[in-house]
Amino acid sequence: MKFTTASILLATAAVASAVPAPVSGARLRELQDRHTEVETKRQAQGLIALSVGVWLAIAGESAGETLAGDVAQALSAAFGQDDTPWSTDGNCQAKFSTQGGANCKLSTSAAEKSGNSTGDANTHDNNWNVCPWIDPQNNDPPVQYFTDPGIGDYSVQFTATDEYTFARIDNTQKCVAEGLCNPRFTFFRTGYSIVLDTWLSQGDVTEGEYSGDFHGLCGNGPIKDQFSTGGDVIGYDCAIPCWNDADLPSTST
Ligand SMILES: *[C@@H]1O[C@H](CO)[C@@H](O)[C@H](O)[C@H]1NC(C)=O
Repeated sequence: MKFTTASILLATAAVASAVPAPVSGARLRELQDRHTEVETKRQAQGLIALSVGVWLAIAGESAGETLAGDVAQALSAAFGQDDTPWSTDGNCQAKFSTQGGANCKLSTSAAEKSGNSTGDANTHDNNWNVCPWIDPQNNDPPVQYFTDPGIGDYSVQFTATDEYTFARIDNTQKCVAEGLCNPRFTFFRTGYSIVLDTWLSQGDVTEGEYSGDFHGLCGNGPIKDQFSTGGDVIGYDCAIPCWNDADLPSTST
């Protein structure tokens, strides 16, 4: 898949060491602030496109100059050669689904290259503080925060039901089946965040629809199981950045 390169400003932000998932306490409040900041950014207004459905958001006040191209290049090195990066074991991965507008399930796995792989998936099926989007007409969809070995701090926000989409995010899409779908993942890094709009980064769209070499980070969806009782199981598998995949050469020592 293709990652573009563009000059941007990079800010510094304090990131505490990893804590067991889900995130709580002072770190949770810090991530909530950063998530709110990302949410105020729109396409071409602070969200910098790295690829289709993949964005870079700068945290806090800009403090120094570096290249979004560095992040794009790092992600390109991590995923660019794969046709189906979501199913490549050498990548960090997230598998998620919902059923009947609830039953949020997620597991991530850390790739060997992260240095933090235990060989086991980090499974959050019974580990959500918030899952359903209650009364979408009047409320924003909730945001769940996790920290996983090999992945780092990230949030998950489902952005659509079969009837509503979250107005503060661009290019949202209603679910193809009854339920809750299309999460935005935000990976919080020192000074910036990587935003993955999973529904836009699909690998199963007709090749060439977006750009010549686009294969997307997500696949194996949107319907994962249409035969289980309780409604369609909807979700995707995605390749996601390992905690160290998008380290900037210019900030490493
Ligand atoms: C991964 O392991 C390294 C080395 O032990 C550690 O410094 C780092 O904080 C870990 N990161 C995550 C996200 O697990």
